[in-house]
Amino acid sequence: IRVYVPRDSFALALGADKVAKAIRDTAAAQSLDVVIVRNGSRGMVWLEPMVEVETPAGRVAYGPVAAKDVDSLFAAGFLQGGDHPLALGDPEQIPFLKRQQRLTFARCGIIDPLSLEDYEAHGGLAGLRNSLAMTPLDIVKQVTESGLRGRGGAGFPTGIKWQTVHDAKAANKYIVCNGDEGDSGTFADRMILEGDPFVLIEGMIIAGIATGATHGYVYIRSEYPEAIKVLNEAILIARKAGLLGWNVLGSPNMFDMEVRVGAGAYVCGEETALLNSLEGKRGVVRAKPPLPAIQGLFGKPTVINNLISLASVPIILDKGGAFYRDFGMGRSRGTIPIQIAGNVRYGGLFEAAFGLTLGEIVNDIAGGTATGRPIKAVQVGGPLGAYFPQGLFDTQFDYEAFAAKGGLIGHAGIVVFDDTADMLNQARFAMEFCAVESCGKCTPCRIGSTRGVEVLDKVRAGIEPERNLALVEDLCNTMKFGSLCALGGFTPYPVMSALTHFPEDFAPAPMREAAE
Ligand code: NAI
Ligand code: SF4
Repeated sequence: IRVYVPRDSFALALGADKVAKAIRDTAAAQSLDVVIVRNGSRGMVWLEPMVEVETPAGRVAYGPVAAKDVDSLFAAGFLQGGDHPLALGDPEQIPFLKRQQRLTFARCGIIDPLSLEDYEAHGGLAGLRNSLAMTPLDIVKQVTESGLRGRGGAGFPTGIKWQTVHDAKAANKYIVCNGDEGDSGTFADRMILEGDPFVLIEGMIIAGIATGATHGYVYIRSEYPEAIKVLNEAILIARKAGLLGWNVLGSPNMFDMEVRVGAGAYVCGEETALLNSLEGKRGVVRAKPPLPAIQGLFGKPTVINNLISLASVPIILDKGGAFYRDFGMGRSRGTIPIQIAGNVRYGGLFEAAFGLTLGEIVNDIAGGTATGRPIKAVQVGGPLGAYFPQGLFDTQFDYEAFAAKGGLIGHAGIVVFDDTADMLNQARFAMEFCAVESCGKCTPCRIGSTRGVEVLDKVRAGIEPERNLALVEDLCNTMKFGSLCALGGFTPYPVMSALTHFPEDFAPAPMREAAE
């Protein structure tokens, strides 16, 4: 009997290892033949650790399971799918999962992440096999036709980036995967690494064949030790299986890859700082041009893509660009793994075609706040994303729709705040975050963020509030238009959205106390 106990960090943090041990020990004591598979997460955090049992009628889930529940699960016959207060039935029928359109995360939580056989049995490698029968240019064309845009947040068309690298003439080219997932409330990259690492490996090989690159680097943040471990093991398995190295799957193509670990700087998620870090230099932003596609890692043409962009490539090459393009709205094609976090009842990963409204996501899917209090603000796109009030909940999840309302979807992380949030504090936090994480290369960001904290403190203290609020606005304009990269350039988004949508929170402290 196969029992699935996730090894994803969500589940581990909530005691999955103890649950796995308790199941193993109890099965051994009862001489039951149980195979424990450490799968990834299905992405329903409130149900973790979610244990699944393979029964003749399909999988049956139980959750959230603690080690102390294991005796009663055995007593209830959970190995046969028996009833129990923690029984959830068929996991695919849980509304949070049933409503999704899983393309990139199709296998996550289902397969054994370190079984290449399991990966293939669930549709893996079909995209690569198709690619091996195509010309590099045809692969690029499929990606262009799919409409896939950079999932790091800038939304640049992936096919055009690949075309640039394909067309560049050089002895060496590189594929770099940006897995420095530093945005607040994001965990999609980590879930792929821990739950389906071969999909990333396959996507990188396809990118290599399409552009003529023979070596890939995956840059992962050091805060993801489990993900690093799983991907490193998966790379070894892929190499042994002839997937990586000379003659990829018996073809004339060569591609190999390795993991590089970051050292905790948010700015290294910016592509040129990441390249510097990969080269062993300080993670300082480089001026563009030259674009990395022309002169990237070690000065060579480089595809640098977000991890989710690369993990979305195998399905495109498997089913065709037109299939992927059929999902979504406007210029935002395909699906997006929305990561729901903060003060919500049902947090987790929700992959869906672009186009859901923000209100649907936070009210219907996430079930409102965990505290039961009204939602005050939702920050979309990480610490540099705008705060959206309830009045903007009809905004559709789409690159252009968010930009039109003064926001950005970034890496699709959503953090929900209830009505106890103090938006002046949140604005101050954005400036402080920028001051701490600034690489220091340009003045608006390096100096502006520190001055921003000071000015907001003056506003809080009621010192010349009108003059100082005008100064905040002026400073934000300078940072937005004068910064070299998105860190300084986007810090004004949370600050100005907080000020615009919640001006009452910026009243001087004595006035606010009187009002309360
Ligand atoms: P960008 O717009 O400068 O570039 C986007 C990508 O397209 C880059 O990889 C760039 O090299 C490439 N590119 C641009 N023109 C090209 C061409 N002609 N040929 C080939 N490649 C080309 O944006 P940037 O500075 O890389 O990122 C800014 C975005 O990052 C913001 O829009 C924001 O949404 C997002 N962001 C994401 C964060 C995260 O943690 N994921 C954090 C902060 C911001
Ligand atoms: Fe560095 Fe900030 Fe300038 Fe970006 S905006 S280059 S992080 S100083």
